[in-house]
Amino acid sequence: MQIIGYAVVGDDDFIADAEGNMPDVLKNDVEWAFFQAGLDAADVIVLGRLSHEVTPNPAGRRRLVMTRSVEKLYRRGDTVMWNPEGASLGAALAEFDCHVECVAITGGRDVFDYFLTGENRFSIFHLSRICGATVPDGTGVFGAVEAHGLAATAILSAAGYCQQPVKILDPGVELLSWTPAMS
Ligand SMILES: NC(=O)c1ccc[n+]([C@@H]2O[C@H](COP(=O)([O-])OP(=O)(O)OC[C@H]3O[C@@H](n4cnc5c(N)ncnc54)[C@H](OP(=O)(O)O)[C@@H]3O)[C@@H](O)[C@H]2O)c1
Repeated sequence: MQIIGYAVVGDDDFIADAEGNMPDVLKNDVEWAFFQAGLDAADVIVLGRLSHEVTPNPAGRRRLVMTRSVEKLYRRGDTVMWNPEGASLGAALAEFDCHVECVAITGGRDVFDYFLTGENRFSIFHLSRICGATVPDGTGVFGAVEAHGLAATAILSAAGYCQQPVKILDPGVELLSWTPAMS
């Protein structure tokens, strides 16, 4: 199964502003189209409970929402609430009425941390960067951005990922894709 992460950051590796919202400086139409195409290709989207609540789902995509508010799993329609301390990823995906070959991981921070290492680690992590953008006092793409002042690229390297050649999505918008070193 493919586990594909998508994040967009500025120069400081923050994904959300001090109020916990997605700031306008991180929005770019071409990057958004790239992201949406990735979601369209996935069978299930995995995201945190806060992102689930603030992000509309007009396409009706299947969502697996990480939360500690349930013991194991709770399904309502195309949304499954999942506590990974109570149920495995495989058990969670089995709640959906489809064969799952590709999941898209859309964050936020603690969700990206969860899939960074371990048996459910990313097959590929797409880090889009809006060059020149900064998000003062924001939320890091990984916990160690804030906790230890580390760059996202250093965190990915330390976790055993290799960077693929940089692609330019749009003027001033870079795509840095990372894959496990041993894959
Ligand atoms: N720029 C980007 O690429 C990007 C990506 C994603 C999100 N965002 C933005 O960032 C903001 C939200 O991100 P966020 O990091 O603050 O929150 P988030 O990850 O969307 O949600 C956090 C919640 O997810 C649940 N959760 C996370 N990890 C878990 C784990 N290991 N086990 C169980 N539950 C877990 C918890 O829910 P409970 O409290 O229910 O237990 C936690 O409070 C939004 O504004 C969103 O638009 C930006």
